[in-house]
Amino acid sequence: MNLDCGGMTVVVVGGTSGINRGIAESFAKCGARVAVASRSQEKVDDTVEGLTALGAEAMGFVADVRDLQAIKNGLANVAQAFGEFDVLISGAAGNFPALANGMSANGFKAVVDIDLLGTFHVLQSAYEHLKKPGASVINISAPQAFLPMVAQSHVCAAKAGVDMITRTFAMEWGPVGVRVNSVVPGPIDGTEGMRRLAPTQELLTLTTHSVPLRRLGRAEDVGNLCLFLSSPMASYVSGAIIPVDGGWSLAGAASMSATLGDLVMQMADGGQ
Ligand code: NAP
Ligand code: COA
Repeated sequence: MNLDCGGMTVVVVGGTSGINRGIAESFAKCGARVAVASRSQEKVDDTVEGLTALGAEAMGFVADVRDLQAIKNGLANVAQAFGEFDVLISGAAGNFPALANGMSANGFKAVVDIDLLGTFHVLQSAYEHLKKPGASVINISAPQAFLPMVAQSHVCAAKAGVDMITRTFAMEWGPVGVRVNSVVPGPIDGTEGMRRLAPTQELLTLTTHSVPLRRLGRAEDVGNLCLFLSSPMASYVSGAIIPVDGGWSLAGAASMSATLGDLVMQMADGGQ
């Protein structure tokens, strides 16, 4: 099934690696104009080059989602060049495994500021540029938003907040025809998130076996859900929190808590 995104403007904040870059590529392959943003000029340039090679009109800007003015300026430049946004994806995030007692307040704050406050900055700043009616806004969430995991207190708190932004903004923006949804990726192969949470082959194998569909996900799987959510087929879907995880969050994701917890506790004990 091919979707035609010709004429659409898509903005992916945090779109220069991993899952979010895969989402940007999915839209590029369907003919959309795509803009990406992140902190690294090198990653932005590489992604714009990659999207252009796929045949898309592409641009990018450098901004830290914690810097409200930088996000506002970058989004305004995209709107000027590419017109109003049909699709906005907010996916910048930070993660590291750490027990609550082994993390500084600043470590906790760094993740909350990137994931939660960053999402607020991106959505609020983009509002004036969104197509009304018709725009599709997607926040990239995580199973930690509704499944407590050891060594993930910062991420659990932040992503739960992200899903509440999805729900509350869906209520506030629905009347002008803007839909807001969360997409919850499962364990996606070859990503930074998986390198941090399943750093050994043993953990990766355990994770794969804990997915009912018995495979890790691909960035393309997440891209396909974002394409659907941004198509007319999803015109009555808003305020939804939708996993794309092979069934992982039904039960398997909870086992990540035990294995990751054991690993981090061992490390905290000096490998004993
Ligand atoms: P990733 O490759 O590290 O992607 C993170 C992206 O966000 C990069 O483009 C990064 O680029 C950007 N970014 C990070 N901090 C930023 C900041 N402060 N300001 C602006 N941009 C920032 O990670 P990933 O594993 O693919 O994860 C992508 C998303 O999926 C995240 O929201 C994550 O929570 C979610 N997720 C991932 C998995 C998984 O299996 N990997 C599972 C569930 C949910 P720069 O470094 O250049 O800033
Ligand atoms: N364990 C415990 N604390 C950690 C940590 C770890 N593994 N990594 C970072 N921290 C703490 C730091 O010590 C610092 O706290 P301090 O000032 O009290 O020492 C705080 O977190 C901020 O670290 P810093 O490196 O200054 O933050 P940053 O803003 O440059 O980077 C991170 C943010 C820490 C989230 C970084 O890992 C990052 O940029 N991640 C993006 C990529 C990513 O996480 N991808 C996966 C997405 S699922």
